[in-house]
Amino acid sequence: MKSAKVKTNMQQFYKNVVSVPDHWKESCVGAECSLHQLSPYIGKLKSSIARDLVATYSKPGDLIVDPFSGSGTVGLEALLQGRRAFTADISAYAKILCEAKLKSPPSLECALEKAEDTLSQSHKLPNPDLRKVPAWVRQFFHSQTLKEAIKFTTVCKKYENNFLFACFLGILHHQRPGFLSYPSSHLVPYLREKKYPRDQFPELYQYRELRPRLLSKIQRAYARRPQIPMNGNSVHKYCSVKSLNLPGSFDCLITSPPYMNALDYNRDNRLRLWFINPNYSVAREDKVIQKQEAFKIAMASLVKKVNSSLKTNGYCVIIVGERIASRPKTHLSHFVCNIVADYAPSLKLLEVIEDHIPDIRRSRRDYRGTKTEHFLIFQKV
Ligand SMILES: C[S@@+](CC[C@H](N)C(=O)[O-])C[C@H]1O[C@@H](n2cnc3c(N)ncnc32)[C@H](O)[C@@H]1O
Repeated sequence: MKSAKVKTNMQQFYKNVVSVPDHWKESCVGAECSLHQLSPYIGKLKSSIARDLVATYSKPGDLIVDPFSGSGTVGLEALLQGRRAFTADISAYAKILCEAKLKSPPSLECALEKAEDTLSQSHKLPNPDLRKVPAWVRQFFHSQTLKEAIKFTTVCKKYENNFLFACFLGILHHQRPGFLSYPSSHLVPYLREKKYPRDQFPELYQYRELRPRLLSKIQRAYARRPQIPMNGNSVHKYCSVKSLNLPGSFDCLITSPPYMNALDYNRDNRLRLWFINPNYSVAREDKVIQKQEAFKIAMASLVKKVNSSLKTNGYCVIIVGERIASRPKTHLSHFVCNIVADYAPSLKLLEVIEDHIPDIRRSRRDYRGTKTEHFLIFQKV
């Protein structure tokens, strides 16, 4: 009985597969709203894809839900196109990015004024005792820079200024001079001491003042920020998908769940997470969602709620990566389709858009994980 059902789903699945539009393969970095570039995020969706999905599967005024929101790409594209957004994620880093992008200060002047005020308050704080900072964090910074960074984030946290906090996290580590750390990679924090030895590049190991770097970052964030018709018209929940209460009724869901076994959000964001909360502990659920059974439980709990709260004729777009090391070798999206068939019978699969992710979009080049993405388009009937 079970295999017959799987077979039916697979047949339907292959009937409906279409390729991604050509422009999804092009870079959108120079054209997208600059708020998308506040701070890097592994597994981030391309904003041009999010923009098309929002435009195609919703209309102005609609409420769009993204329960695995990550850095808030879908939410920001929703607001830019006059929709409302409801986002949620288990990560504390995602919470800061979503609130920063979806409730950004209305103008550059406003953002700079707030930054000056926050910087001046942080200068008044006593210097932190760096002996209490773990060595793995200290190794990234000049001691003076680290003291400024800790004091600044203390004030951001006190007033819950997530926009400034996100700008700070966006300049935390990189090899370029506009960043706060010693030379290191940008997405995942690794020191580049071999490429830039201290004796040959002493200037890269000097004190880096926070203020000019932060103000330049804010200017960059506003370089291409159009008026956002729905700015602030959003809600973000910092919680797991299992404990999430979705809005009672919504028009569209667009989401990309974590790739099973593929990305470790806590390890890869460890330096940013330390500044957010030095005691941040890896949520158990986030660890186990990488296993098949936990993924199934999380997705089942989500689609059950979607089944009852998505409006009739509303769309549900689930973006899934390829499952690795699976036997038999099936795409993770077949597994998701079966969960939907079991727990959300009102959702009918309309179409599958298949994207072979080019190397340039992967977080690690040598990485053997996700190679194909499927956009599963369901409609509530
Ligand atoms: C592929 S990423 C989403 C990326 C996002 N679309 C973007 O553009 O930034 C998947 C997200 O799922 C979140 N996540 C993992 N387990 C979760 C859970 N149990 N409940 C809610 N969110 C979870 C991760 O923190 C991560 O941000």
